[in-house]
Amino acid sequence: MGKSKLILDCDVGHDDAIALMVAAKNPALELLGVTAVAGNQVLEKTLPNTLHVCQHLGLETPVYGGMHGPLVRDQITAGDIHGESGLDGPVFEPLSWKKAEDENAVLYLIRTLMASDGDITLVPVAPLTNIAMAMLLEPRIKEKIKEIVLMGGAIGLGNATPAAEFNILADPEAAHVVFTSGVPIVMMGLDLTNQALADLHIIERMEAIGNKAGKLFGDIMRFTRKTQLKNGLTAGPVHDVTAVVYLFAPEVFEVKPAYVEVDLTKGPCYGRTVCDLIGRTGHEPNALVGCGLQLEKFWDIVEETLRLYEE
Ligand code: BDR
Ligand code: CA
Repeated sequence: MGKSKLILDCDVGHDDAIALMVAAKNPALELLGVTAVAGNQVLEKTLPNTLHVCQHLGLETPVYGGMHGPLVRDQITAGDIHGESGLDGPVFEPLSWKKAEDENAVLYLIRTLMASDGDITLVPVAPLTNIAMAMLLEPRIKEKIKEIVLMGGAIGLGNATPAAEFNILADPEAAHVVFTSGVPIVMMGLDLTNQALADLHIIERMEAIGNKAGKLFGDIMRFTRKTQLKNGLTAGPVHDVTAVVYLFAPEVFEVKPAYVEVDLTKGPCYGRTVCDLIGRTGHEPNALVGCGLQLEKFWDIVEETLRLYEE
């Protein structure tokens, strides 16, 4: 079987950085490009964070900067989880050879998708601003996207508000554009991603690999562990990694079809992904929603992939 082509859209970000490590190295994947967007922090931070991770690991994949803020709402960030830099914890060398491409991420998405044979999967693990903007600017890309496997939303409770998950809350209107696009969607929401907790045992296991990727995993998740403990979780979840792993190991996940609607009313449920799993609304499902994952297999895959980094 050929490799799955993907573009990773991210707001690096601790779990984004690990998603990038897996996407760039797993032999089942061909990472065409990385697009950065404002989310966990402003774009002036998430874009350099992406470049730092690439440079540190010797990744030559092109990186593009995209939207500086959401389509409609005021910008929010997640400094409480990811720190002032958006990637507090690891220490990187100053940027030297790794630079962002001149082209804007939104234009790169349109150009690449329009020139494709419809075989590219988009993996957004951040607010959906870049993806929605590309769809609004060039609606014909919807026919060209093979699938969107995203991290965002929840069947149940949120994390940024009681009702909403951060990526969706940070740009609910963009999420609405994507969920109503007709493109096949797989949604890795908190119900699933909060199961992928990197506890101390997992952190030590990845560090024991002894290469740069394993060490970076440790530096990242030791920081996130602290912020997530404050937030009531027992360890840091690697939310975004689940979307990447799903591409080449879907058997590790339990997904259910659902009609997902983003709440755009400006009340306490703003940004909630309302998931109809029982056909109550009468709408056809527009997404497969993640419910469970086989944890041991998941961590084995992450470890095997990080081992592929040479130094
Ligand atoms: C999502 O929000 C971000 O803080 C994480 O990187 C992840 O994409 C989890 O709610
Ligand atoms: Ca993210």
